[in-house]
Amino acid sequence: MNINVITLFPEIFDSLNYGLLGKALDREDIKINIFNLRDHQLNKHGQIDDKPYGGGEGMVLMAEPLENAIKNIPSDNLGIVINLSPQGRIFSQKKAKELSTLKNITIICGRYEGIDERLISQYVDDEISIGDYVLSGGEFAALTIIDSLSRFIPGVIGNQKSVEQDSFSHGLLKGPVYTRPETFNSDDIPEVLISGDHNKIKEWRDNQSLIRTFERRPDLLKNAKLTKKQKKLLEELSSKAIL
Ligand code: ADE
Repeated sequence: MNINVITLFPEIFDSLNYGLLGKALDREDIKINIFNLRDHQLNKHGQIDDKPYGGGEGMVLMAEPLENAIKNIPSDNLGIVINLSPQGRIFSQKKAKELSTLKNITIICGRYEGIDERLISQYVDDEISIGDYVLSGGEFAALTIIDSLSRFIPGVIGNQKSVEQDSFSHGLLKGPVYTRPETFNSDDIPEVLISGDHNKIKEWRDNQSLIRTFERRPDLLKNAKLTKKQKKLLEELSSKAIL
């Protein structure tokens, strides 16, 4: 996969060179090309933004430098163009998986009060927000999106099964996990995990996943696929919650 990023702060993307993603970049399972918007500034004053028409706070990124940055990317490598902004559609695990299947994508990292709407209507295929809060720019959103989509690219995570068990993959949050020692500050791990009974362990994990989702993210339950046992547990949890 080939990911192009247009940004005013290329150095922020150095942080991609770590961990499993860093290794995937070394192997070229994924290629990330960073394009500095400053290379396309309009004049010798380095202009890339201007005051909003109609007045108001802050500055707006101008369409022309962004257009030049997009045109500078070989058209075969451009793929879909994504603008990151708080006005976008909310990012999700489903969206990460969808993006991971594409050969090429180009991500624009906005800054300031946003980018000229005409650039969006003429060049942008999708606008994405990573959540209902405002960042100083799209860079950290881009890092988030690149990291999460890369987990779906074959070879990036050594064990693809672990991606299947991630939170959201089955519509629920993942339950708690434990490792050695068996007792930590007088706190024992749940017995079932050392029972050797794989069916019981699976059932326990399914239940924990449901309980956690019920407590923290009940909104996810609407679309979750539940086993018979989980449905029964949900009824119990719901009736307790009413009492
Ligand atoms: N830029 C600023 N805030 C953002 C957000 N929440 N998601 C994506 N890009 C952003």
